[in-house]
Amino acid sequence: MLHIFPDPSSIADYVSNTLVERIRSKPDVVLGLATGATMEPVYSRFVEKVRQQRVDVSRLTSFNLDEYVGLSGDHPKSYSSYMRQHLFEHLPFDRSRLHLPDGLAPDLDAHSHEYSIKVERCGGIELQLLGVGSNGHIGFNEPGTPFDSRCHVVRLSERTRRDNSRFFEGNAVVPEFAITMGMVEIMQAREILLVATGESKAHIVAEWYRREVTEMVPFTVLKRHPRAKIILDEAAASQLPEQVQRTLMAVPA
Ligand code: GLP
Repeated sequence: MLHIFPDPSSIADYVSNTLVERIRSKPDVVLGLATGATMEPVYSRFVEKVRQQRVDVSRLTSFNLDEYVGLSGDHPKSYSSYMRQHLFEHLPFDRSRLHLPDGLAPDLDAHSHEYSIKVERCGGIELQLLGVGSNGHIGFNEPGTPFDSRCHVVRLSERTRRDNSRFFEGNAVVPEFAITMGMVEIMQAREILLVATGESKAHIVAEWYRREVTEMVPFTVLKRHPRAKIILDEAAASQLPEQVQRTLMAVPA
């Protein structure tokens, strides 16, 4: 389930090819989408490929993993803006099929529940993209989140807020809360591609490798998923045992 690529650009090729294949074979596929710097090259390569190969994206449905509480969809640091900037405004999607949690919903718990039901009504997610936080979070499921959690409101850890402060320049403060799809919706996806790139992820990737499945390192749960791939560049794989690095680099994903 571990795959090592030379660099983020070859990962972008691999992941965007997988996305294009899935959409071609099932134009009304349901995708789970992620944000974060890791996904930027993936979306940019995907946009190029869709244009070159004239892939019809108008019938696909997507659900984003998470959104900050208190930021409107128009706020430049919201994940809604991120998705428009990196993906949605570049291709002729049917906007009514693109879903993100609403960080300004008046009743956040009710909204989280509705979001979860919406995913279920669409038949669940077929292909889920994931990044990973430096503490092992997926979506915004922080260490300690029960594996049976569904979409919910979360108080972000200090570490996550510090990590994400790089996107909030100036005096802007990283919100304290977010809405995230839970571990259940993520694990119910039929297929999962988690991407980790760069040295800053090497430590948590090594931790993933060493440890049994534990709620303290949320993405270890993927060891229980029958079709999850952990896709690394060489920098993110650099703290894995050398033997493992050698073997995996030899095997194409
Ligand atoms: C955020 C998002 C996650 C993302 C993670 C890693 O906290 N909620 O979904 O995977 O950051 O982000 P980056 O790719 O910027 O390292």
